[in-house]
Amino acid sequence: MVKRKNQTKSGAIIRQAQRVGIFGASGCGKTTKARELTANLSRLIYFDPLAELATSAGITGVFSSIDRLKIAFKRDFCKGFRFDFIPTFGNEIKELNELCYFLLELQGGYKAGTHQGQITLFVDELDIAFPSGITQRDPQNGFAYLCRRGRHYGINLIGISQRPHQVDICFRGNCSGVYWFRHAEPSDIDVAARALGKEYRETLRNLGNYQYIYKSGGQTLTHL
Ligand SMILES: Nc1ncnc2c1ncn2[C@@H]1O[C@H](COP(=O)(O)OP(=O)(O)O)[C@@H](O)[C@H]1O
Ligand SMILES: [Mg+2]
Repeated sequence: MVKRKNQTKSGAIIRQAQRVGIFGASGCGKTTKARELTANLSRLIYFDPLAELATSAGITGVFSSIDRLKIAFKRDFCKGFRFDFIPTFGNEIKELNELCYFLLELQGGYKAGTHQGQITLFVDELDIAFPSGITQRDPQNGFAYLCRRGRHYGINLIGISQRPHQVDICFRGNCSGVYWFRHAEPSDIDVAARALGKEYRETLRNLGNYQYIYKSGGQTLTHL
């Protein structure tokens, strides 16, 4: 039998790494949803510009130096980790880029088929570290590479932003699932309505806090 790349020896299909977007106005429940989605993951890194997640349950290390973070990754790679990284103000784009290239190196074994351990990279306030236009300005941006090819390395992505239209299209365009919460700005409602279909515009306008519309592939689910 020819073993497909995402198949184990027994033939079971391994879950493909996912890219999930969570968009909505301040206070609508985005970070809470992301905490819920990542609660049980044992190989997780939060990129946390506002230092909001450092006190989350189960965090095994908080870092503000990328070099120290890299050492900790190498130390804990096999036993598991739930790290929080707080980038330096003004350096978010550069540090996310560097972190992404490091994760690609770490996950080289997954790409080569020698292990099946996936990693989840969660980026809060994505419009800061991966703003609209960045892929055009820097085609070799590491996060853009993960958006396009991260699944081959077993790297799941979760990206959050209040302002989806200020997040580079390379992320939005490659999401396998998106949670659309309440939006305050008309330009963001437009982005959401384009993604969901104009029949959802009214529902979008009427969403309250903690309510969302989730879209994955051809399926759309309204959670009110
Ligand atoms: N589903 C929910 N039900 C009740 N309270 C919630 C829910 N989701 C979030 N909250 C609360 O609302 C506040 C804002 O949530 P948060 O996730 O920080 O929003 P955001 O990240 O969108 O700014 C927090 O105090 C949080 O505990
Ligand atoms: Mg938040």
